[in-house]
Amino acid sequence: MMEVRELGHRYGDQATLTDISFGLGPGEKVVLLGCNGSGKSTLLKIMNGLISASQGMVSYDGEPVSPSTLKHGPLRTRFRREVVLLFQNPDVMLFNPTVYDELAFGPRQLGLDRVDERVRHWAGEMRIDRFLDRPPFTLSGGEKQKVALAALLILEPRLLLLDEPAAALDPRSTGWLVDFLAGLAMTTLTTTHNLSLAGELGTRALVLGEDHRLIHDGGMDAFLRDGERLLAANLVHSHRHRHGAIEHRHFHPHDWQ
Ligand SMILES: Nc1ncnc2c1ncn2[C@@H]1O[C@H](COP(=O)(O)OP(=O)(O)OP(=O)(O)O)[C@@H](O)[C@H]1O
Ligand SMILES: [Mg+2]
Repeated sequence: MMEVRELGHRYGDQATLTDISFGLGPGEKVVLLGCNGSGKSTLLKIMNGLISASQGMVSYDGEPVSPSTLKHGPLRTRFRREVVLLFQNPDVMLFNPTVYDELAFGPRQLGLDRVDERVRHWAGEMRIDRFLDRPPFTLSGGEKQKVALAALLILEPRLLLLDEPAAALDPRSTGWLVDFLAGLAMTTLTTTHNLSLAGELGTRALVLGEDHRLIHDGGMDAFLRDGERLLAANLVHSHRHRHGAIEHRHFHPHDWQ
């Protein structure tokens, strides 16, 4: 469905992604792990055709994806409906006067029918029906994240790119989101540096190292049990403990509850 081949990206002289290759098949639930600054958000923006790669390429159903091919190439009309990105910061996605208009915006732009029915259906699914008349800027961070996600799901995409979708959610909303995403038939690629959540969000892990290279593409469970690689990816830290006279070392995930 989507293929990333020998992808590289730099901001000025700083490398943000180096030699990244992997593919995504229909219906896969994949989790992209990596510490702060490893390049997760940059990779998702390139896969969504918002920024250009410096090297290599991304293709969708065999067609090259980039800002220029999406403007002029054969994917122009369908890519924006079929491949969607939930930004890490939902504020940048919300610009309509009400939540209702926020959900209706995409379907109206694409000329879809039954807009009102779609808005009410997805507002119900995402449990945001009571906010439909509110201006989005009056919502809490977690509420905004649900509105931003609903505004994407209403397009019924094939590939959902989710950048830290649970970052602003409380434990109950996080649990609900995990179940909700697991029940979706579409392909999802979800970023997180929360190891306790990673195992719930997918069975395949892609891991970006601090050197911006892919250091793992494979089973989630195997990666979560691999202390050395977790440490190399800066997803756990190691420090000394003293129990009475005995001193020893443990690995600690940053977020273990
Ligand atoms: N517009 C930009 N100009 C310059 N450098 C940038 C820009 N956007 C990102 N970077 C840098 O690129 C690197 C990768 O950033 P990115 O946002 O992709 O990381 P991330 O893995 O998503 O991190 P986080 O876990 O904090 O969200 C970082 O060092 C960041 O400072
Ligand atoms: Mg990020």
